[in-house]
Amino acid sequence: MHARLGHDFERFGRGLPRDAAAYVREAYGVDLTARYLGYTLPHPIGKGSGQLSLNAEQLETDREAGLAFVVLKTVVAEDAAGARSMGAWAVPETKMRVERRRAADGRVGWTVTWKGRGWDGAFEDYLALVRIAGDLTRDGALLTVPSAKYHLPRLDEPFRESEYRHTTLRLAEAWGEGVLPLEKDFSPTLAGDVLADERSRILRWLREVPALIRSTGGPAPLRLALKLMNARFDDAFQREMMAAAAGADALVCFNRLWDGSTNVAYGGWDLSERNLGVLRAARRERLARPGGAASPALVGTGNVCSGRLVLDYARAGCESVELHTFFQLPLSEYPASAGSRTQRALHVLLFHPVDGLVAGMLELEAAGVLHRCGGELRFLDLCDLVEG
Ligand SMILES: Cc1cc2nc3c(=O)[nH]c(=O)nc-3n(C[C@H](O)[C@H](O)[C@H](O)COP(=O)(O)O)c2cc1C
Repeated sequence: MHARLGHDFERFGRGLPRDAAAYVREAYGVDLTARYLGYTLPHPIGKGSGQLSLNAEQLETDREAGLAFVVLKTVVAEDAAGARSMGAWAVPETKMRVERRRAADGRVGWTVTWKGRGWDGAFEDYLALVRIAGDLTRDGALLTVPSAKYHLPRLDEPFRESEYRHTTLRLAEAWGEGVLPLEKDFSPTLAGDVLADERSRILRWLREVPALIRSTGGPAPLRLALKLMNARFDDAFQREMMAAAAGADALVCFNRLWDGSTNVAYGGWDLSERNLGVLRAARRERLARPGGAASPALVGTGNVCSGRLVLDYARAGCESVELHTFFQLPLSEYPASAGSRTQRALHVLLFHPVDGLVAGMLELEAAGVLHRCGGELRFLDLCDLVEG
């Protein structure tokens, strides 16, 4: 198997097979089936919301590369008159810098330094993109998910429901037939804002926002993921946030860290350490109280830069992962010699003979951690694995 993997890694560096997940199943007996917000995916690797999902061309490139799903850039909600309470989040983008970043433990990873925030174009233009997203999803070409940021009040203030209603209804209308999948973003810039200084305020948002979005979204069915921020509090509070967000269908854990000294969000190994630490502790808590209320499904995000990291997030309970930075590296960082950045990233994440997803799953089998079922190793089994 390892010789075969080495050979595949080498030849797929010149071009991935049309359906990489089907190939992996056939060649290795590895079933990469994953899930995002209840949708079944061929494999767990998707694209997080941001500057890489702003237009139809980027979506077409990702569809062709065989990405499992894409979350569109976050739009800032508005009411019928066009007023946006979170308008400060719709600032025009500056140039992104892809940089090395040394983590507290000394490991050097990648981060993207950028001062922009939400979608800075017209809401109508975003809705045009959502129409394309609905069509791509219904056609089975690429699961494409809108993302929004809505009004968040102080404790003594009510939520501006008009903003929630107008935005969700327009998104649902643009989406068209069928269930609307939606991510609600709590961003790192928000984590760095005075608005997020108080724990009780954050917990109220997480408790109330899911019901508010559902109740203002009209009759159209909706599946909601909350993308949680890394708040500037400890890991225990991070888990309190997860518990408070139980009204969501899925939680994306967790958006980038906030550097208060330079006022920028960042990623790299500090981010994956923090996220995995919290997710593992949350998982231990869940396992300790079996039979409790069903929790939202989990999606990982943060420094996914190898198949091993995908496995780390899966073993911490995540049914899929959302990447951004790894799709932005200098071309020289990818071992593949051809294809889009998305293709080159998938190539190394799936097929690297040591650090790839397939290699990692075979290794877990050899270690007696993961077992074949019906002759196959199944990615999703990792999420429920009870490890000694
Ligand atoms: C330049 C940039 C812009 C981003 N914009 C958004 C956004 O608008 N909404 C959102 O939910 N996440 C946004 N993100 C977060 C990413 O989707 C992702 O969750 C995060 O960067 C962690 O993954 P990574 O380490 O693979 O980059 C952005 C990230 C970057 C680097």
